[in-house]
Amino acid sequence: MDDYERPPFFHMMEYAADADRDVVDMVSGNPDWEPPEAIRSGLQRYAEGSVETFQYPPSEGLYDLRATLAERHDVGTERVVITNGTAEANYLAMATALETGSGGEIVMADPVYPYYHKRTRMLGGTPQFVPVEPDGTLAPAAVRRAAGEDTAAIVVNSPNNPTGAVYGEALKRELAAVADEHDALLISDEVYERFVYDEGAFGSALAVDSESVVVTNAFSKSMAITGFRVGYGIFPERLADAVRTRHMLVNVAGSRPAQRAVLDAIEATPESYYEHNRDRLGDRIATFCDALDDAGAAYTRPQGGFYVMARFEGYPGTLENAEQLIDEAGVAGMPGDAFGDSRASWFRFAVVTPRAAEAAERLATYFS
Ligand SMILES: Cc1ncc(COP(=O)(O)O)c(C=O)c1O
Repeated sequence: MDDYERPPFFHMMEYAADADRDVVDMVSGNPDWEPPEAIRSGLQRYAEGSVETFQYPPSEGLYDLRATLAERHDVGTERVVITNGTAEANYLAMATALETGSGGEIVMADPVYPYYHKRTRMLGGTPQFVPVEPDGTLAPAAVRRAAGEDTAAIVVNSPNNPTGAVYGEALKRELAAVADEHDALLISDEVYERFVYDEGAFGSALAVDSESVVVTNAFSKSMAITGFRVGYGIFPERLADAVRTRHMLVNVAGSRPAQRAVLDAIEATPESYYEHNRDRLGDRIATFCDALDDAGAAYTRPQGGFYVMARFEGYPGTLENAEQLIDEAGVAGMPGDAFGDSRASWFRFAVVTPRAAEAAERLATYFS
């Protein structure tokens, strides 16, 4: 895999936008539905507020937001830091692990969300890749073999981008045990937590009683507000001070209006909002997978998240082929090789478009 560079998402999105034909965009993970009502009304109310509320919030985030999240996750408020999306929470965890841990390696799955290994290299660390099982999960024994005395962290994501695999509590427990053995952190990115199609499959790493677990999350996907940049990390108490300092030195603070609107929305949004969006994505996935059957493609049906990985016989998931799919089939996906070697012959399609069914028909026609 290549070094730190511009992520290939941007190239594919630009290529699709510049195409000479109508293209269904299944490249990025931007939700295409409405945020909770309280997000819009909260921002409107905010705009009428006093100038004081337009100034710096506490660096680690609005206290009430941190306390609400702490209560929801049953942890102490001092462990919660509000971040600029899951991205910053992951950065804080990885940088802290490399700085305070005993090693310079970060263990991660292959295929993997590319920001993990690019960020590892940016921080001077070395990624160690563990190929996933055929169903997209990680085998703890394989993680154990990859880990060693130079391991600073194991970073996992579930529901997973790109495979759609969902890791349960038992797997997280085993991974935390491996991390513990090496004085490393288990960093569990749970940003797709609200999108689980197999009920009961998901378990948060917070359920594991371990001093080495960091959970990262955000409202980017669950509230359809990727542009707000409100996320959080829940860190072990012993690291919370170091994390808060790093967050302050990098950002000073996060966005106050966005945090306030999210707090309003957490309180006001019924479960049915999340369930409705999850069910709609589940329906899209079912339709898309049916059409992949018609196209003769191999695929893994996601247990969670926004993405379907598929493989077409004799048509590997290279950048050139992904461009050709845009030009000739009118469907833009991500080349599998952008996520690593183990699924390099696959493509990844994001189902966050109302045109997923149309895209599936186009693929079926193109490949049949
Ligand atoms: C696995 C994973 N982690 C983190 C992010 C970034 O999340 P945020 O927008 O909350 O920073 C994404 C975005 O697609 C993602 O897929």
